[in-house]
Amino acid sequence: MRHKVTIVGAGHVGATIAQRIAEANLADVALLDILAGIPQGKALDIWESGPVCGFSGQVIGTNDYADSADSDLIIITAGIARKPGMSREDLLATNARIIKSVTQEVTRYSPQAVILVVTNPLDVMVYLANKVSGLPGQKVVGMAGILDSSRFRSFIAQELRVSPQSIQALVLGGHGDTMVPLPRYANVGGVPLTELLKPERIEKLVQRTRQGGAEIVGHLKTGSAYYAPSAAAVEMAEAILLDNKKLLPCSAYLEGEYGLNDIYMGMPVILGSGGVERIIELKLTPAEQELLLQSAAKVKDSIKLLNKLELF
Ligand code: APR
Repeated sequence: MRHKVTIVGAGHVGATIAQRIAEANLADVALLDILAGIPQGKALDIWESGPVCGFSGQVIGTNDYADSADSDLIIITAGIARKPGMSREDLLATNARIIKSVTQEVTRYSPQAVILVVTNPLDVMVYLANKVSGLPGQKVVGMAGILDSSRFRSFIAQELRVSPQSIQALVLGGHGDTMVPLPRYANVGGVPLTELLKPERIEKLVQRTRQGGAEIVGHLKTGSAYYAPSAAAVEMAEAILLDNKKLLPCSAYLEGEYGLNDIYMGMPVILGSGGVERIIELKLTPAEQELLLQSAAKVKDSIKLLNKLELF
C-alpha cells in the first residue's frame, strides 16, 4: 500500500518537500495551506511533472484538513518568516499560535501519524507540537541537525576538495547560533577530520556552519533557505516511511539523556516508522558537554517564553 504524507505550509520549504517526495516515489502527497489556491496550483504543477519525472503518486493541494486524513506522516512547515523590526519573541508567539492550530487539526484527522516539524524557531515549535498533540515524545520530531550537518559536510568537502559524499559529520544542540558541531565525530571516508585539518581551519568551518542559515538569508534578502532544508526533511521522511532506522541528528524529546529533561534538542537518533526509536548518548568531552548545556539553556529560555503564552 502507498504511504500518505501531508505537508502543512505550501511555501518554499513545503512545496519543495512535496516535489522531492513525489519525485522519489515515496508517498502520495497532500499539500495544505491557509491560502486559497496556492496549494492547489503548486500541487497540480508538481503532479503534472509525473510523466516526465517518472512518478505515479498523487499530489493534491487543499485548504481542508479532511483531505489530510489517515496520513502516515505529517510535515509542518507552516509559519511566517521573521519580518524586519520583528523581535524573536514576536516571531515565536506568532508561529506558536500557528503550530498549535495546525497540530490540533492534523492529530484530529491522523491520530496515528508521526509529526515532523520544520517551522522555526525549531526546537521550541516541535516541543509545542508534542505538548498540543498529546503524542509520546518519540512520535514528534524536528528537522534541524541534518541540515546543519549537511552544511558542515559541504564546507569540509570544499575545504579538502573531496566529494561531499565521503564526509560524515554531526551537529547537535539547538538549531541556532548555539548549535554544537562536533569535529571529533566528523570523518572523511572513515579518516578522522582532526587528522586532516588544523584546528584553526576546522574552527572556521564550524563558525560558517553556525551562520549557515544567515548566510543564505544574506543573499536572498527576502526569504530563507529551502533547497537544503527540504532535502533534510525528506531524508527524515524516508527513514520514517521506509522504517530504515538510519542514525540521523534530529531534534528529539529528552527525558534524562545528557542530563536534560523535558526539552527538544538536536541529538543523534535512530529514526524509523515509530519516529525516534532510540537516542544515542555519546561520551562527550567536558568542553563538548559544556557547549551542549549552553545550547540547552537557550532552548529552555525559549520554552519559558512559550509557557508564558499558555497555549497548552
Ligand atoms: N495554516 C497553514 N498554513 C499556514 C498557516 C496556517 N495557519 N500560516 C501560514 N501558513 C503558510 C503560509 O501561507 C505559507 O504558504 O505557511 C507557508 C510558509 O511558507 P514561506 O513563507 O514560503 O516559508 P518557508 O520558506 O517555506 O519556511 C517555512 O520553515 O525552514 C523553516 O524558518 C522556516 O519557519 C519557516 C518554515
